[in-house]
Amino acid sequence: RIAYVNGQYVRHGDAAVHVEDRGYQFADGVYEVCEVWQGNIVDMPRHLDRLNRSLTELRIDWPMSRAAVEFVLRQVIRRNRVRNGLVYIQVTRGVSRRDHYFPPEDVAPSIVVTARSSNPDAARAQAEQGIAVVSYPENRWPRVDIKTIALLPNVLAKQHAKEQGGKEAWYVDSNGYVTEGGSTNAWIVTKDGAVVTRAAESGILRGITRTVVLELIEKEGLTFEERPFSLEEALEAKEAFVTAASTVVMPVTRVDGRIIGNGHPGTVATRLRELFRTATD
Ligand code: PDD
Repeated sequence: RIAYVNGQYVRHGDAAVHVEDRGYQFADGVYEVCEVWQGNIVDMPRHLDRLNRSLTELRIDWPMSRAAVEFVLRQVIRRNRVRNGLVYIQVTRGVSRRDHYFPPEDVAPSIVVTARSSNPDAARAQAEQGIAVVSYPENRWPRVDIKTIALLPNVLAKQHAKEQGGKEAWYVDSNGYVTEGGSTNAWIVTKDGAVVTRAAESGILRGITRTVVLELIEKEGLTFEERPFSLEEALEAKEAFVTAASTVVMPVTRVDGRIIGNGHPGTVATRLRELFRTATD
């Protein structure tokens, strides 16, 4: 395997950044995960737009031009012979002696790109079965709209979910409302058939998959509500699902051990997954 690190393509096993990298010292960086489907990067322009937003919010410069980043993403995918999988990009504020203040102007941001293959059959099998999610108290900082590499709360939430037999954690805020998953956006379908997800303006990352699924919902003419939903409402929902570049649309069949709907992936989630796949074929 090959990775790209600050201007060089290196063996994945040797790919490393300096110990004084701001990412390593302070989690002072941002990232994107894009799906690779049949050799193409799914929704690359939107991911790079969001990367730009994250960088701007944190006042980190682009490590190189956007066109150069696109080129490197494609190179890393090609050099790893990835047809279906994920490509990862991370940009940090660069290498500088540990000091909380921003480093001197001449310190260049660091960039790392990796790619790996995934098994589409395994993903399909998972989607046909659905996943279990486990709730977890929201304990993240208020700037979850920025896709930073500071993911310790997400790590702890997802590990908790795993230890409870779940695949994903659903953060629940102090009012009892689900915000999002540890690495996904959260959705339900109500008994009346309305698709519900929280508005992107408050307490969540504006997922690219979320945006695309919203467009599919509109095109299909499905009833849709962008509003918070409580954990209680989720437990009574007809369907639930999560979205992310890494899972696309993934049905949820259990929340905190309670069966959702009939315990099988719902028709809306299944349909949206198909539509998403058709759109990227
Ligand atoms: N996670 N919410 C959070 C907290 C996320 O980390 C992610 C993505 C999403 C979904 O965003 P998108 O649809 O753009 O992938 C929502 C990536 C995949 C990860 O950390 O692995």
